[in-house]
Amino acid sequence: MRTHYCGDINTAAVGTEVSVAGWVHRRRDHGGVIFIDLRDREGLLQVVFDPDQPEMFAEAERVRGEYVLAVTGTVRPRPEGTVNTKLASGEVEVLAARLEVLNPAETPPIHHDEHAHEDLRLRYRYLDLRREEMTQRMQLRHQVTRTLRSFLDERGFIDIETPMLTRTTPEGARDYIVPSRTHPGEFFALPQSPQLFKQLLMMSGFDRYYQIARCFRDEDLRADRQPEFTQLDIEVSFMDEDAIMTLMEGLIRELFREVLQQELPDPFPRMSYAESVDRFGIDRPDLRIPLELVEISDLLQAVEFKVFAGPATDPEGRVAALKLPGGAGLSRKAIDDYTDFVGRYGAKGLAYIKVNEVAKGREGLQSPILKFLPDDAVSGIVERLALADGDLVFFGADKAKVVNDSLGALRVQLGHDQGLVAAGWRPVWVVDFPMFDWDPAEKRFSALHHPFTAPSVDDPVDLESAPVNALSRAYDLVLNGSEVGGGSIRIHREAMQAAVFRILGIDEEEAESKFGFLLRALRYGCPPHGGIAFGLDRLVMLMAGAASIRDVIAFPKTQSASCLLTEAPGPVSQAQLRETGIRLRKPPEPTAS
Ligand code: AMO
Ligand code: AMP
Repeated sequence: MRTHYCGDINTAAVGTEVSVAGWVHRRRDHGGVIFIDLRDREGLLQVVFDPDQPEMFAEAERVRGEYVLAVTGTVRPRPEGTVNTKLASGEVEVLAARLEVLNPAETPPIHHDEHAHEDLRLRYRYLDLRREEMTQRMQLRHQVTRTLRSFLDERGFIDIETPMLTRTTPEGARDYIVPSRTHPGEFFALPQSPQLFKQLLMMSGFDRYYQIARCFRDEDLRADRQPEFTQLDIEVSFMDEDAIMTLMEGLIRELFREVLQQELPDPFPRMSYAESVDRFGIDRPDLRIPLELVEISDLLQAVEFKVFAGPATDPEGRVAALKLPGGAGLSRKAIDDYTDFVGRYGAKGLAYIKVNEVAKGREGLQSPILKFLPDDAVSGIVERLALADGDLVFFGADKAKVVNDSLGALRVQLGHDQGLVAAGWRPVWVVDFPMFDWDPAEKRFSALHHPFTAPSVDDPVDLESAPVNALSRAYDLVLNGSEVGGGSIRIHREAMQAAVFRILGIDEEEAESKFGFLLRALRYGCPPHGGIAFGLDRLVMLMAGAASIRDVIAFPKTQSASCLLTEAPGPVSQAQLRETGIRLRKPPEPTAS
């Protein structure tokens, strides 16, 4: 049916006859000549219809946007002055000799419109995917997976599939569950990750595993989260965290080199969790933004201003400052907006100082809180932050978590609003995470990563005696402020695994019923092992410069976890419910149609 892709035809084909097939991107009538831009996945080609073949010309006149055509004709150079340098095929056109309409098309509800409402784009995803930008993103995604696979293949990794119908896998989200017909009243869970299976594969001796694996998590969605997403999942035996991080950053460097022709730093910098939270308020720092939180609790312990003195003397409190160089010009309205912004993260206010003329001391500063601060506190702040004329300083004072969350988010927002985000790629490994998170309300520990992550101590007795201070052997890869991967060295001895379960409040019975298979497997010769999983969609999103993870997934879900194209999820028949032994508590509301 065809000899070339439209987008592949160029001056090399001049004078030859070609057959192409594709969609009508645009049709223009020009004084007795019809031009059709024919499109396929490789690009556009201008096809010319002359009136000297009246039958074909009449057919071409009837053609509309998105009709599917097959055209045969001769390639010729475009006349001087009509060359389109934006198209790969822009120096040539095809003079049609034969035209066949393979299929007409109704006027599409969206037509190559990137600004169409996203709901409409998702409902007609097959049309949206015709857009060049979307086609290119899917091709980029393919290049990414191909490059990752070949890197791993060259290094002895084996691709092994793991089940989709399984038991709950604890990554901290809610499970998607699937009722069993053959075991009425029982349910499978869709995997939140292949975590336990890949560990079992290490116990089987496969040594190096990878999989491009689909994961399912019922959690609150954001621009970089989907309920169904893809991981590049990896596990290795007999390697420590240093070796794994070195190998994995090599993979990411190769990926950016091959696909984007960009060099990433070698090695990637590493930063402890504590340092990251201290300086950036968050464990996934965007190092492109040159602003930092500065600790000032020690300067404010004795001041009368309770807003500052309270958190400054509270062991769980924090007072921190964030300097915006040259920010003194910010309007009152802008500062009020930022105050509302930090309010969303729980901050009760956003104190600030504008620096008009630092040489004048207190007189040169402007701030609603200045009157509450004694001279030594003021001069301490000026000195520690190295304040200069024109600077603006924001303050956060509260429980450390509130200060970190709010100033950490403000830092990123200011970076974007003030044009401070440097170009390029800033990867960083975050390491030395705490092993556990203490929930004061529920009075219990939860695992900061998953409960199979090894602690940095070797002896379970040491771990149980001081779980609060325990660090884990986990590592996250952060790229431009986005967590693109996370992994750890795993627990490979049963006694340690049992100790971690005890600390997490998982009793023996629960451990046996949920993870008995893993605990048993640990008894039959488990090698030391560890691994990582990269969020493939997030990586591609960053590489594509896309604003949303949905833009790099062919058929994504909406923010409320539904598929507008297929209208999933949907009701099932009474027969299906009966078969699986399910009775709905309340019949679903009839949907208005
Ligand atoms: P983790 O839960 O950190 O680790 O997930 C690994 C990476 O997957 C990506 N990711 C997501 N991407 C899109 N939508 C989501 N809902 C979503 N959730 C996570 C992130 C994240 O860094 N089993 C462990 C890995 C291991 O220990 O080897 C795991 O799943 O980029
Ligand atoms: P107030 O005394 O409540 O009027 O607050 C004086 C200034 O301190 C205002 O600019 C508030 O926005 C700010 N402020 C109040 N509470 C906090 C807080 N917890 N952290 C930082 N600034 C605050």
